[in-house]
Amino acid sequence: MSRLRVGVLVSGRGSNLQALIGAMKDPLYPARVVLVCANRECAALELAKKAGISRATFRLADYPDRKGRDLAMVRSLRLHGVELVVCAGYDAILERVFTREFAGRIINIHPSLLPQFAGTMDAVAMALEARVTETGCTVHVVTKDVDAGPILAQRRVEVRPDDTVETLRERIQAEEHTLLPVVVRRLAGQALPITG
Ligand code: GRF
Repeated sequence: MSRLRVGVLVSGRGSNLQALIGAMKDPLYPARVVLVCANRECAALELAKKAGISRATFRLADYPDRKGRDLAMVRSLRLHGVELVVCAGYDAILERVFTREFAGRIINIHPSLLPQFAGTMDAVAMALEARVTETGCTVHVVTKDVDAGPILAQRRVEVRPDDTVETLRERIQAEEHTLLPVVVRRLAGQALPITG
């Protein structure tokens, strides 16, 4: 069975990366992570190392500008034969050189029911502040417009009266960890690019 070659972009803890690593342990899972790219040192890189996955770090300070950094990342992903890019807690906005090169082949997981609380790194806190009774998570296609690409899947999470950012984030992330592997599995079975 040929498995979809996935590159994962990370900046932080890497719990969504870990969920994908867990899923691909099943020999019948139709995708595998072949490269993890980070924009800084982070715990996610350690998880990749432990799983024996190739890793690369692209610090902005090592390049003339964001475009140069993203071009280097594109080259590295291409060298690894990556067919699908998953942004899993990656906290930089991708340049046009990147979104054009992998058009329809980049997905992101965001901790809200998009289009609510788009374009922020603080979507969980914003949901609490807005006193919504329900929030959730979304997997969407990445386009040049931040958090605005076609939505592939969503999961709803109830907001409880006694929730803090931490408790709410924990429940949202629990949903993310099952949703992301499901979406990647679905995409592995269909022709890419994703047209929405
Ligand atoms: C996730 O909640 C995701 O929705 C957001 O960043 C967080 C990353 O968490 N984009 P982790 O690094 O996967 O643990």
